[in-house]
Amino acid sequence: MEHIPILKDQILSEIVSMENPCLRFLDGTFGRGGHTRAIIDEIENVNVVAFDRDQDAIKWGQKEFATEISQGKLVLHHANFHDFEKYIGDQLFDGVLLDLGVSSPQLDNSDRGFSFYSNGPLDMRMDQEQSLTAKEIINTWEEKSLSDIFFQLGEVRRPGRVVNAIVADRRKQEFTTTEELANLIARIEGWKKKGQHPATKYFMALRLVVNDEIEPLKDTLLRLMKRLGRGGRFFVLTFHSIEDRIVKWVFKEAVDIGKPLYKKVVIPSRDEQMSNKRSRSAKLRIFERSKE
Ligand SMILES: C[S@@+](CC[C@H](N)C(=O)[O-])C[C@H]1O[C@@H](n2cnc3c(N)ncnc32)[C@H](O)[C@@H]1O
Repeated sequence: MEHIPILKDQILSEIVSMENPCLRFLDGTFGRGGHTRAIIDEIENVNVVAFDRDQDAIKWGQKEFATEISQGKLVLHHANFHDFEKYIGDQLFDGVLLDLGVSSPQLDNSDRGFSFYSNGPLDMRMDQEQSLTAKEIINTWEEKSLSDIFFQLGEVRRPGRVVNAIVADRRKQEFTTTEELANLIARIEGWKKKGQHPATKYFMALRLVVNDEIEPLKDTLLRLMKRLGRGGRFFVLTFHSIEDRIVKWVFKEAVDIGKPLYKKVVIPSRDEQMSNKRSRSAKLRIFERSKE
């Protein structure tokens, strides 16, 4: 499935309404370049520096944005946005976007192992050069560590029975596929909540750990905020309550840098949620650097 950029029009209108023109933009999560495309096409004279740690995303971007890259409008880095300083020197930006989470092509390609709907290897790495995979976690991590990640990151209230079953089954044969894990979870948990696969929260927790998505976020948000020029805006889209809580807190506390543009979180309209199922859990927070 094609990746549809979420809250694209709201983000664009908040860029257009900035006091100073947006000439320098940092997109930390390029994906399929949906937001970057809209920004390059709609904002006059903007230059974008974009990052993605997924090789497929970068290869795709180099092809699809070949013209913009050759014109110097886009610079694309295969890198983790947490390491952005290595790539941008002392540059400041008028706008920064982090659209956290996975892209539709990552979810839909069963070889990447993010989804329990299509069988694939237990992988879940965004960066295929990284060594830690979901398979290693499931087959080698201690019972207590597995329980902790499912409880804390998956917000599973009682993961004990599933963890016990994982540990018992892996003694006989290691887990290698998403289907094996999803089937085990469904067997133990059963289907309680209509429409949601019982493995949803477990897979989410594993993905967050494999890609170390939570721990470095607070610090990176702070470092990125300091790279905003006067009146610059920082857009963060999250899909997980833990991430949203971190963003909310960091934006609220950074009174010496600026303030949140809105008190309330921005969510996709009903129309957007109807037309793009993946937008349903999205939350957008916007921070503005002070103008003095
Ligand atoms: C939700 S998608 C972004 C979609 C994009 N905004 C679009 O409209 O096409 C998230 C992307 O960010 C990438 N990503 C997630 N965390 C990252 C990180 N720490 N550093 C670099 N890229 C990251 C993922 O590999 C994925 O391609």
